[in-house]
Amino acid sequence: MNKVKVLIIGGGGREHALAHAFARSARCEKVFVSPGNAGIALEYPCVLLPDKEKIYDFCEKEGIGMVFIGPEQPIAEGLSDYLKAKGVRVIAPSQAAARLETSKAFAKEIMQNCGAPCAGYRMIHSPDEAKEILPGLKLPIVLKADGLAAGKGVIIAHSHEEAQEACNELLAAQCGADGVLAEEYLEGWEASLFVFTDSEGFCTTVFAQDHKQLLDGDEGPNTGGMGAYCPVAEAEPYRHEVEERIVAPVLTEMKKRGTPYFGVLYVGLMMTARDAHVIEFNCRFGDPEAQAVLPMLKTDFVELCEAMFEGKAGQIQLDWLEGSSVAVIMAAEGYPGDYKKSLPISIDELDGRVYYSGVAKGETGLISSGGRILAAVNKGENLKQAREKAYADIGRISIPQSIYRKDIGMRINRISRVE
Ligand code: AMP
Ligand code: GLY
Repeated sequence: MNKVKVLIIGGGGREHALAHAFARSARCEKVFVSPGNAGIALEYPCVLLPDKEKIYDFCEKEGIGMVFIGPEQPIAEGLSDYLKAKGVRVIAPSQAAARLETSKAFAKEIMQNCGAPCAGYRMIHSPDEAKEILPGLKLPIVLKADGLAAGKGVIIAHSHEEAQEACNELLAAQCGADGVLAEEYLEGWEASLFVFTDSEGFCTTVFAQDHKQLLDGDEGPNTGGMGAYCPVAEAEPYRHEVEERIVAPVLTEMKKRGTPYFGVLYVGLMMTARDAHVIEFNCRFGDPEAQAVLPMLKTDFVELCEAMFEGKAGQIQLDWLEGSSVAVIMAAEGYPGDYKKSLPISIDELDGRVYYSGVAKGETGLISSGGRILAAVNKGENLKQAREKAYADIGRISIPQSIYRKDIGMRINRISRVE
């Protein structure tokens, strides 16, 4: 059996979970993470590779068999194109295909061309256009900057005045420089699905659910994600239509355009009374969904990646552990606004495990260095048990001035379907 060395690009909890998924593979010789973080470095060697040339040199020197890019930024900057051109095998889409995430207008165009259900929208390019278009739209209006906004580019306006103001703000921001989408508000509940694709064939994961708001009961500001769980039982009835009406046609359309999509595609969905609508595409795995989903995957992760390189992604049947998995994020008080750093982290023996995101090395142990510090992840026979076990672990972790949501995995996902 030939084994491979793997390099993961990124430094958050998602990359920690990816490293762990690779490390469990019988086909994995060694996992490196760049830049990683001080928590990931407790388990896997982390290397600082500040630019694409250094990344390539490292691949050459170490004999890296595959590179997996975690976050969207390096993909959007063309890292996978650069490495692929030099003969390195990379799991990530090209810069052109990543436009499914980096331009919301592009994603809409693709979906419209192939009939994938999504919210109706109008494109706005100037405050004058906003004045003309917004008063004619039904409330609430969802406003989104066209470009990458690190999760901060969506505003739901409940009056036309508010919509006008928000639209002008987004137009003035860098992410709105190419325009703002005024979108129809979709009523329903959300779930995410991850697609492994070689650009033609694909296989999909269990559904997962992120909890984006800061506070219990989905109150408070939007964050990078305060926790996630999987599988989402209520989403299963939507699987067939999501694969047939969204994933397959979007991949075909991308290929037809000369920008085939290879890698992991994140499909953010709103389950409405009628059907599943796409809320957003991302060109990568979700964070914190990866921390909940990957520990449930029984399929050998290197073999899954090899199948993608061989164009056999459509022939893979992903295998999952029975039961559920819950990831609860611990964040620094004040996040997503200003928050304290260098909070000491102490962890007693856990039943599950943690994946680290915003941590650094302190004098006596790990200290916090980011808003989201770590995820406590545990599995159980069912969702209730997984949740209880994850929260029992949270009780064994002590970080002063930290916060976490107490209701991860407790949402009621319900909407009456009309056929
Ligand atoms: P995004 O940054 O596109 O993930 O959007 C952030 C959040 O805004 C989503 O997770 C939804 O909760 C909400 N959202 C985005 N688009 C819509 C829409 N068309 N209708 C209702 N809610 C939306
Ligand atoms: N969980 C949201 C994201 O990764 O974008």
